[in-house]
Amino acid sequence: MTSPTALICETQAWKDLKGHVEDINKTHLRDLMSDAHRCESMMLEFEGLLLDYSRQRATVETMDKLLNLAKAAQLSEKISRMFNGEHINSTENRSVLHVALRAPKYAVIKADGKNVVPEVWNVLDKIEDFSEKIRSGSWVGATGKPLKDVIAIGIGGSFLGPLFVHTALQTDPEAAECAKGRQLRFLANIDPVDVARNISGLNPETTLVVVVSKTFTTAETMLNARTLRNWITTALGAPAVAKHMVAVSTNLALVEKFGIDPNNAFAFWDWVGGRYSVCSAVGVLPLSLQYGFSVVEKFLKGASSIDKHFQSTPFEKNIPVLLGLLSVWNVSFLGYPARAILPYSQALEKFAPHIQQVSMESNGKGVSIDGLPLLFETGEIDFGEPGTNGQHSFYQLIHQGRVIPCDFIGTVKSQQPVYLEGEVVSNHDELMSNFFAQPDALAYGKTPEQLQKENVSENLIPHKTFSGNRPSLSLLLPELSAYNVGQLLAIYEHRVAVQGFVWGINSFDQWGVELGKVLATQVRKQLHSSRTQGAAPEGFNYSTTTLLKRYLETSPEPKM
Ligand code: F6P
Repeated sequence: MTSPTALICETQAWKDLKGHVEDINKTHLRDLMSDAHRCESMMLEFEGLLLDYSRQRATVETMDKLLNLAKAAQLSEKISRMFNGEHINSTENRSVLHVALRAPKYAVIKADGKNVVPEVWNVLDKIEDFSEKIRSGSWVGATGKPLKDVIAIGIGGSFLGPLFVHTALQTDPEAAECAKGRQLRFLANIDPVDVARNISGLNPETTLVVVVSKTFTTAETMLNARTLRNWITTALGAPAVAKHMVAVSTNLALVEKFGIDPNNAFAFWDWVGGRYSVCSAVGVLPLSLQYGFSVVEKFLKGASSIDKHFQSTPFEKNIPVLLGLLSVWNVSFLGYPARAILPYSQALEKFAPHIQQVSMESNGKGVSIDGLPLLFETGEIDFGEPGTNGQHSFYQLIHQGRVIPCDFIGTVKSQQPVYLEGEVVSNHDELMSNFFAQPDALAYGKTPEQLQKENVSENLIPHKTFSGNRPSLSLLLPELSAYNVGQLLAIYEHRVAVQGFVWGINSFDQWGVELGKVLATQVRKQLHSSRTQGAAPEGFNYSTTTLLKRYLETSPEPKM
C-alpha cells in the first residue's frame, strides 16, 4: 500500500511488475494465443457486450500482478471516494460526480452533504419540456416560425462529447426517425471559417443557438457566441435573442450578462469536469433538441449501467478496471507511448477525438496528485480513425513500424444493413471481416519461414515479414443503439479514471491548458494596439516578433 504522498512506483507491486516485464519479453502472442485456457480467462461479457483482451501481452500472472498493483494504489478506496462525492479533484477542491448525471431519479449521490440527484433531474425535466416545445413548434422564433435547426457553440468538453454522440446516433434508425427534418451543427473553432460553414444554408428565422460553456469565459466560445448573436440580431433585431439563443453553463450570472434570459439557461455544476460533461445539459440539451429526450434518456441509462458495473463488480470481472490496468501495463511497463482507437463503425467516427480529450487532458500529467514529479510515464497519445479507413492510412506503421496497442471496437448488428444480391457477404460482414482479421495479423505477424514456403523472392522477405506480437483488444457490442453508445462512453471515462487512480495523479484538473491561453492574451493586446495605433510588436522574442510583423504587414484584415 502507498503512503499518501509516496509514488506508486515505490511499491513492491510496481517493482514486481517491472521484474515481470522480462518474463513477458520472452513470450510471443503467437504462443500465448494457443493457450485456450488463458484466452478464455481473458474474455468478459456484460449485457451482451463482449471484451476480449487475450491479445494483450499479458499472462494470467500479469493480471494477478496488476490486481496487486490496484490494491497497492488503493484503487477500490479511490473509486468509492469518487462515488461518495469527496473532493478528489484536490487542486480545484471539487468532487468528481459525472456519474450523478445519469443516475436514476431515486438514487442518492451526495456532494458536500447534499443529494445532487434531484437537481440533476430538475434540469433534465426542464430540458425535456423545452426540447418538446421546440420540436413540436409550440416555441417559435421571432417571426413566428418553428426552430428546426440548432447550432451548438462550445469547445473541448463542451463540444467533443456531444459531437461524438450526435455522430453515433445520426444513423441509428430510431434516433434518425426522431430527427427527421431537423439539423444539429457544432461550432467550436474560433476560425471564422467554422462560423461560415455552420451558418451556411441556415436561416436565422428558423435557427436556435445553444451556447455551451462551463465557465462562460472561454475566448473561442464567447467570440463565436457574439458572432452568432450578431448574425441573429442583424437579421431579426435585438429582441430576437430571447427566442433564438439559450445557454448551458455553471455560470448563470455571466449567461445573464451576455443577454440570454436566465429562464433559458440550463445549469450544471462544478463537480462536472468539462470533458466528463456530455451527460449533463452540455450534451443532453442539443441532443434532445435533435432526437427527443426519450432517445437521450436511453443513452444516459446505458452510461448508468456501466457506472453500476464499475462500482460494484469485483476487479477481475470489471471492464473499466481491467482496461485501465492493461493501459497502465502498456504505458508504464511495456513502454508503449500511444494507443489507437479503431472503431469498425463509421457512426463512431468522432469517438477517438472525444476520447483523445478525455484521456490526454486527464492523464497527461507530470506530477503526482501531491505535486511530486513522476518517475514513470503516464498518459498515452490517443488517436484513431474508423476501420477500414485507417487500414489504408496509418496501419502500415502499426503492423511493421512502432508498436501501438490497438482498441478494436465493432458491432454485431449494423445500424444500416446492406446486402447486395450476388455478393459473397453483406456489407457489414465485409467490414467485420477486417475487424476480426486485423487483431490476428498484429498478434501473429508473418515469419520469414512462412514467406519462404510461399516462394517469396529472397530480396522481398525482409519487407514482407511481420514481427507480430503487437497487442490489441477487441470490444464487440451487440449494436450501436443510444444505450450502447452510453455504455461505450462510460467504459472509457472510467478506464481513464482507473489509470489516473493507479498512477496517483489528478485526472480531473487541466492546468496544462492555461499557459498558452495567457500568452494568447498578450498577443491579442499587441494585435489590437498594432491595428489601432500602428504600434510595433514589443516584448516578444525574435521569432515571434518576426512572425507577428510578417502577419501584420501582409495581413488583409481591415484596420479597426
Ligand atoms: O481546454 C481547456 C478547457 O477548459 C477544457 O477542459 C474544457 O472542456 C474547454 O476548455 C471548454 O471550457 P468551457 O466549457 O468552460 O467553455
